[in-house]
Amino acid sequence: MSRVLVTRQLPAGGLDPLVEAGHEVVQREGDEPYTAEELVALAPEVDAIVCILTDRIDVAVLQAGAPRLQVVANVAVGYDNIDVATASQMGIAVCNTPGVLDETTADLAFLLILAACRRATDAEADLRAGRWTGFHIGDFLGVDVHGATLGIVGYGRIGRAVARRGAGFGMEVLHHTRTDTGIGGWVADLDDLLRRSDVVSLHVPLHDETRGLIGARRLALMKPSAVLVNTARGPVIDEEALAIALEEGTIFAAGIDVYEREPAVHPRLLAAPHAVLLPHIGSATEATRRRMAHLASDGAVAVLRGDRPPNLVSG
Ligand code: DGY
Repeated sequence: MSRVLVTRQLPAGGLDPLVEAGHEVVQREGDEPYTAEELVALAPEVDAIVCILTDRIDVAVLQAGAPRLQVVANVAVGYDNIDVATASQMGIAVCNTPGVLDETTADLAFLLILAACRRATDAEADLRAGRWTGFHIGDFLGVDVHGATLGIVGYGRIGRAVARRGAGFGMEVLHHTRTDTGIGGWVADLDDLLRRSDVVSLHVPLHDETRGLIGARRLALMKPSAVLVNTARGPVIDEEALAIALEEGTIFAAGIDVYEREPAVHPRLLAAPHAVLLPHIGSATEATRRRMAHLASDGAVAVLRGDRPPNLVSG
């Protein structure tokens, strides 16, 4: 029997693989996040950590965990909160949750596309504030989704799931990745994709090359009628540059679910026109969050058993 630190309360059933394998789950009552110091203090006492994307599993936690800690399983597909390079060097496995959240996250990306193009949240806010005086021919004019060109940046599972939705909505779909996908609609140059797209949706992981990928220079390449959507990771966009682009009308609208310094949101972005802002809820359905917790737990159990799980990032 191994000891597994689970850093949050997870959806019912999500920890079943750990319990069924007979492991001891170390978890505190309530949902207060562990501080960095608490994670360092707990790491040496456990064989595995099941964590979420707001827990920083850095060199201090990993070194504290050695030599007992065998695996860190992130209940997220992104794993930029974990120092994977150090974990690999130390022989600590890292797992994530690919595949189980693609459709749910793609649904949310599409919600943002629709809401930003059609100014849904501005219009609803006006109605709720009692400012609606009746139908006006020129009110809340947006841009059409059908017939528009959708440019997808990053063409993994989620990007492809968004592409399918775009095709269903009668959009022309382009995508950009660094290497040719061999699939119709591939655009070699990101700048070219930005110039050609009416809606741009970001689906790249966060790493050194994608940090700040969309800054002032690239925003200036987009059409003044364009809409930018981000359900990937906040630091992929320079938030201040985006706020300025919206203020100045360099682009038409944005739909954003992730932020550079969560939970802080740049005050200029909060105040910017035509911005639909959601609090990192891309995968937030009951069923998907349960599947994510289950898959992360499965990964931890497999590593503890000496197996190589399919959701192994490194190790
Ligand atoms: C992830 O999994 O990386 C999302 O950001 C949260 O579900």
